[in-house]
Amino acid sequence: SVTRHYKFNVVQRKKTRLCATKSIVTVNGKFPGPTVYAREDDRLVVKVVNHVQENVTIHWHGVRQLRTGWSDGPAYITQCPIQSGQSYTYNFTLTGQRGTLLWHGHVNWLRATVHGAIVILPKRGVPYPFPKPDKEEIIVLGEWWKSDVEAVINQSLQVGRAPNVSDAHTINGLPGPAPNCSSNGYTLHVESGKTYLLRIVNAGLNEELFFKIAGHQLTIVEVDASYVKPFKTDTIFIGPGQTTNAILTADQDAGKYLIAISPFMDTTVATDNQTATGVIRYKSTTAFSPTALTTIPPRNATPVTNSFMESLRSLNSKEYPTKVPLEIDHSLLFTIGIGINPCATCQNGSRVVAAINNVTFVLPTTALLQAHYYGISGVYTEDFPGNPPTPYNYTGTPPTNIQTTNGTKVYKLAFNSTVQVVIQGNSIVAPESHPTHLHGFNFFVVGKGLGNFNPNTDPKKFNLVDPVERNTISVPTGGWTVIRFRADNPGIWFMHCHLEVHTTWGLKMAFLVENGNGPNESILPPPTDLPKC
Ligand code: C2O
Repeated sequence: SVTRHYKFNVVQRKKTRLCATKSIVTVNGKFPGPTVYAREDDRLVVKVVNHVQENVTIHWHGVRQLRTGWSDGPAYITQCPIQSGQSYTYNFTLTGQRGTLLWHGHVNWLRATVHGAIVILPKRGVPYPFPKPDKEEIIVLGEWWKSDVEAVINQSLQVGRAPNVSDAHTINGLPGPAPNCSSNGYTLHVESGKTYLLRIVNAGLNEELFFKIAGHQLTIVEVDASYVKPFKTDTIFIGPGQTTNAILTADQDAGKYLIAISPFMDTTVATDNQTATGVIRYKSTTAFSPTALTTIPPRNATPVTNSFMESLRSLNSKEYPTKVPLEIDHSLLFTIGIGINPCATCQNGSRVVAAINNVTFVLPTTALLQAHYYGISGVYTEDFPGNPPTPYNYTGTPPTNIQTTNGTKVYKLAFNSTVQVVIQGNSIVAPESHPTHLHGFNFFVVGKGLGNFNPNTDPKKFNLVDPVERNTISVPTGGWTVIRFRADNPGIWFMHCHLEVHTTWGLKMAFLVENGNGPNESILPPPTDLPKC
């Protein structure tokens, strides 16, 4: 393994999209930002220099950060932001990980424009567990706002406002073709008979997406940098923060074929109906216009999401065994969703917020990890509830228990303990699917279902043999998902809905994993350039 150095200059840059030009925050002037390449077990050293007015942090989404929480990146959780004119060097090892991940800004809504792919190749000489594709292509899905993203945040924080929607989806930074301002969409050039590993990243802020290519099937081989048993599908379902590796075989007649991404939203919550398109173009084609998709899933195509998620199984092979914890030390139930919070200065005395177990998480003004490491008291409390208040009916219309309280609370886990979290979507205000992300760990998705989780009967249906391993999972609308992981990484680890609007509203919490006793079981000392608040 080697050490790879990158330099991220965070700079403003003018970009033209949707017939208009605006200045956005970028890394090295690019949108999407540069791809970071490495191999399994390599060390990455990334110097981030902030040349803009805004605060900056970078999160390496899905990188385990074993003992290096200082490099994880969420602002006020593991570090103070890098202020204007300052720099910070992230330094971490990609221990035992290979596949596609993403990096993104993790302060306010910076990730709207500050994001890019991470490609971790297997160790030299180690093959993929599937036939080697002829070529690889990175496909980063995003969103574009015509207005300033800060204005979008402010609007989302106002009482009773529906989440803002973007003005377009993008494929590698490009909205679909807009003939009236002569912009072209994304094009992937292919050669007949060749195979392509598409490394697909959803770097969008607020939309789970469908991805589809006209006339072609895709073979899914990996999600969130974990191999899966290959299966064929014509539609990929991918939430913000998730990554999917799919093999495309150029086995159709020479021509052009439409690629489309469209949003999934199975409720009446305001959503972006924009479909972004691109094109697959065979070498030597003379086709003028692309073959259209016969169907694009409608925005409420829940069955398509279910069948995609149910097809995902970890390899569980000799080389890549599935190590799902069978005995559980901490059995937790988290209700997630939107709630009501008393607010003295608001109209009607309350406002719409989001919460886990009725706690609306408030970011501190000192990073939690610093407070933990240096023993600074008064920054957080260790009483995050492992269960919601009772009585509770998560999927009905509960008459009580809709009020949340503000808090900066963590849930404490002993080093190497095993954890099961039933993540139950509540339906207090607007039932919605929540792509939930855990920092610092991969987890196994052992079960999911609709309605209220039943602790007596549902565990009998858990998949403890080959559950998919990932870092972000969609919790279905009016339903639940169960994850398991081993708390083998000391530090403070953020868990939140990866729809940025819900994170902003408070759908977040943190785990505190204590140091173990062995020499390699404690968090490493912080780097000397760690930013101060
Ligand atoms: Cu990709 Cu805490 O986020």
